[in-house]
Amino acid sequence: MPVITFANTKGGAGKTTAVLLLATELARLGFRVSVLDADPQHWITRWYETSQSALGKLTVVPYVTMNSIDRQLTEEKTRADFVLIDLPGSRSSLLAKAVGHADYVLIPVQGSAMDAQGGANVIELLQYLEDKADIRIRHSVVLTRVNSMVTTRAMNAVKDLLAARRVHLLETPIIERSAFRDMFGCGGTLYSMDARRVSNLDKAQENARALALEVLQQIPAARHAGIPGLRNVA
Ligand SMILES: Nc1ncnc2c1ncn2[C@@H]1O[C@H](COP(=O)(O)OP(=O)(O)OP(=O)(O)O)[C@@H](O)[C@H]1O
Ligand SMILES: [Mg+2]
Repeated sequence: MPVITFANTKGGAGKTTAVLLLATELARLGFRVSVLDADPQHWITRWYETSQSALGKLTVVPYVTMNSIDRQLTEEKTRADFVLIDLPGSRSSLLAKAVGHADYVLIPVQGSAMDAQGGANVIELLQYLEDKADIRIRHSVVLTRVNSMVTTRAMNAVKDLLAARRVHLLETPIIERSAFRDMFGCGGTLYSMDARRVSNLDKAQENARALALEVLQQIPAARHAGIPGLRNVA
């Protein structure tokens, strides 16, 4: 079943946040989701330990390393509709392996030049796999921590750069929302939070849903493999 790897060699680009949003949203849509946690900060594993009871369809596999990833991926692929991989924010052989296993690579990029460079490193790796090994892996950039009110000059520069290099950009950006931070602090999902305490929770839910639907459209294996539940989300 499709493997989605989240990668940017720059730390703090928003990978783990994007993984959690997509994982919880896909599980909410009825898919069985496994997250392989290879981020040394183990945010998703910690989140899972406090949230487990609320989630029937989501599994998190902790302590994923270069030596264990092949076995863990094989196991999770047999039981999940989607396997998501959260990586460290650095160049590593683990990154190359996790990208090589992917059906789709999502590259979270904040609207800053440094982040765009971290994303460019991943795109170079994908290009290398295509040139040297004829392995073509579909991939998109998703803009993260986007200010809901302002379009910054830095953000436009990143968009222009991507367009010039013909890199696919998801139409749905991940907006800067306190709800997306609070999920890690409080556990649970955007749907178990109290709307009276979390500002713009409805907008955060809408954002996560739009992201999940757009990602599903990008994955040919998801569209054609007859994954149960996909018919209901178009
Ligand atoms: N859309 C968002 N809204 C609000 N806060 C966000 C958003 N995206 C990321 N953050 C915050 O930015 C910080 C870095 O995000 P995150 O941990 O997702 O990045 P990362 O790429 O996984 O980092 P690392 O490379 O260190 O693993 C965290 O404090 C997170 O809560
Ligand atoms: Mg992370």
